[in-house]
Amino acid sequence: MKKNIGNALALYPTPLVVVGAMVNGKPNWLLVGHLGIMGHDHVMVSLAKAHYTNQGIRATGKLSINIVDEALLPKADRAGCVSGHKEDKSGLFRWEMSENGVPMIADAPVVMVCTAADFYGTPGFDNVICTIDATYADEALAPEAARYGHSTFRQTAALAARAGARRLWLAHYSPRIEDPEAALPLAQAVFPAAECGFDGKSVTLPFTES
Ligand SMILES: Cc1cc2nc3c(=O)[nH]c(=O)nc-3n(C[C@H](O)[C@H](O)[C@H](O)COP(=O)(O)O)c2cc1C
Repeated sequence: MKKNIGNALALYPTPLVVVGAMVNGKPNWLLVGHLGIMGHDHVMVSLAKAHYTNQGIRATGKLSINIVDEALLPKADRAGCVSGHKEDKSGLFRWEMSENGVPMIADAPVVMVCTAADFYGTPGFDNVICTIDATYADEALAPEAARYGHSTFRQTAALAARAGARRLWLAHYSPRIEDPEAALPLAQAVFPAAECGFDGKSVTLPFTES
């Protein structure tokens, strides 16, 4: 029997993202763990009202949501420990500007460039409800994959989404992919239910006899 442990927030763990916005003419970044999916075309990031980044999001109406992988963790941690109110964080990441003027982390595997469509207030927080203008994924391996008649994670995920698949297990990895789990966000950005297959992984499909 389960025990009532109070009104604990019990949705952890969540993915970590770095949210970026232009603030007073420079990029600023903060680390965010409180984020979510709304329907099929909106996402939400929950930002404490006092944060420096919020000013830029309110002024420009735009933000980037940068997926954090292991390599980015030390810098992402810094973005989450120091405020732009106190320190200029514009040089923390290698960055590039999206076509519509939003700073994106160059080394993030996947970046969503978003419009802040609404701000839903809860005590102490700006919950930014976003529409997705564009999703940028690292497709550096696409030409090589095509040469061998293979697909990238992102291409496979796009096919699964178009086919209306319920599940996708990625398999038959290129030797260039040393850690499939680290590259998985490339597929999940397009098909969130994507998983990495590995030797011995199995699933039982419960067909009913008619
Ligand atoms: C692991 C981790 C997760 C965090 N998640 C959030 C979050 O979801 N929302 C938020 O408002 N702040 C979050 N923070 C805190 C901000 O990233 C941090 O206060 C940041 O320095 C604010 O930067 P800014 O004032 O330059 O915008 C998190 C920090 C860490 C270390």
